[in-house]
Amino acid sequence: MTQENYANFARQQNASETQVAGRYAIQVLPEKRIVADLLHKLAIEPEDTLLEIGCGPGSLALPLSYLVTETSVVDHQDVLARLKSRGGAKDIRLYPGDFADVTINQQFSKILLYSVLHYLPDFDSIAKFVRKAFDLLLPEGRMVLGDLPNEDKKRRFLASAKGKTFIEEWNLAVAGSDQDFHAKHTISTPNTFGFHDKAVFQLAELVRSWGAETYVLPQPPNLPFGHTREDLVIIKR
Ligand SMILES: C[S@@+](CC[C@H](N)C(=O)[O-])C[C@H]1O[C@@H](n2cnc3c(N)ncnc32)[C@H](O)[C@@H]1O
Repeated sequence: MTQENYANFARQQNASETQVAGRYAIQVLPEKRIVADLLHKLAIEPEDTLLEIGCGPGSLALPLSYLVTETSVVDHQDVLARLKSRGGAKDIRLYPGDFADVTINQQFSKILLYSVLHYLPDFDSIAKFVRKAFDLLLPEGRMVLGDLPNEDKKRRFLASAKGKTFIEEWNLAVAGSDQDFHAKHTISTPNTFGFHDKAVFQLAELVRSWGAETYVLPQPPNLPFGHTREDLVIIKR
């Protein structure tokens, strides 16, 4: 189970926050650019109430929490313990557990799911998960389904001249870095979903049918997986 894998990451004191969030140690600087991108995509305002589902060690929720009125997060209790151990977490409301089972009696003006949905087993589970999140969104609220690893986008990028150069440089950089850590602790993937063009647009269309505008937006290429991932922005009516 994916949450258990992340709880194992979180329990390792020698793992960096970047690794606990499922990224490579070499992505520590690109990771810092995600928040600026999300400020626009979520249209963050001081009066916002924010929920992050699958928050990891809080590398996004913590900086965002300074810019809004109230922040709540959902993740495995051991992952939340890691978030709690970082400075500035005292006012964040914690909901430990699998989001599918957690009860939240509140609606939010902004909801973030970043790098989470592809850990679910199939499209139906994703649709159910997103529907539960959508019901927690206030009218006119915004939700970002971010960092969707679209395999078609990745294939197109890797087939390009730029992609070929990139992958050579990437393999060299990772080989000299934390490849062993990731190989040892890698998320077991047999039960996870492979996003592709059709699923991304199917999800956008599904959310529109619930009464929202949805937009598929690119990531700046200098984000951790900016060449191969994309974001779905949802604006509820
Ligand atoms: C790749 S990490 C991303 C963390 C954070 N959103 C970020 O981008 O820095 C995915 C996180 O989602 C959590 N997660 C996966 N499935 C979940 C579920 N069903 N309910 C709540 N959290 C979940 C994992 O435990 C993990 O901490």
